[in-house]
Amino acid sequence: MSDESPAHLDGVAACVFDAYGTLFDFASAAARVAELPADRRAAVTALWRDKQLQYAWLRTLQGRYVDFRQVTADALAYALESLGLEDAGLAERLMALYLELDPFPEAPETLRALRARGFRTAILSNGTPAMLEGLVARAGLDGAFDAILSADAVGAFKTDPRVYQSALDALALPAQAIVFVSSNGWDAYGASDFGMRVVWCNRTRQRRERLPGAPDFEVATLADLPRLLPPSPGVTNSR
Ligand code: LAC
Repeated sequence: MSDESPAHLDGVAACVFDAYGTLFDFASAAARVAELPADRRAAVTALWRDKQLQYAWLRTLQGRYVDFRQVTADALAYALESLGLEDAGLAERLMALYLELDPFPEAPETLRALRARGFRTAILSNGTPAMLEGLVARAGLDGAFDAILSADAVGAFKTDPRVYQSALDALALPAQAIVFVSSNGWDAYGASDFGMRVVWCNRTRQRRERLPGAPDFEVATLADLPRLLPPSPGVTNSR
């Protein structure tokens, strides 16, 4: 992200995406619950997300893994109780909507453009395979990915290095041939510290993290991604 950075990421063969907040808008769940006033929707979204991440990290630290669907349901229960909104029907509705999140508007075209230029594409997410496959199918993105990779295969959540390693193993590529794209600062820094090239899709203009790692580029939306990537060397030549 410094002035001396090259204008492009060379030697990249695959683009690997985080799911929640990067390809899919987790705020779109509460946004669809008409009976929740707008300020409550924002509060539910924020606390639900914060707790979901904390629980994922803490369970990984403690060696007490449960899958991301359970973590997400537990975090929602905490958030609704904290906000005085405890209600079984509402919790059930929000969980169902979490399985049907909208993709960000620029995501389908970005994926199409990257694949047309010869890049392999994948998801690497804490979400379970069923959660991720459901979102991809609902968004009409079947066929847009070479692989949908879940932390569930590892039994730990990002930023555990084993999760990032699972993408290298699945794609049979070295870390430097992968650009990892995440809107989450913690995830962008984690993947960078692991050794991947990283584009931080900093949608909400978060401040830089004081963590190990240094994302190579920061963009405002996924639409800015293709211009950072010259066509995949694997396609045009074998340099
Ligand atoms: C993901 C989250 C947690 O792994 O953003 O998709």
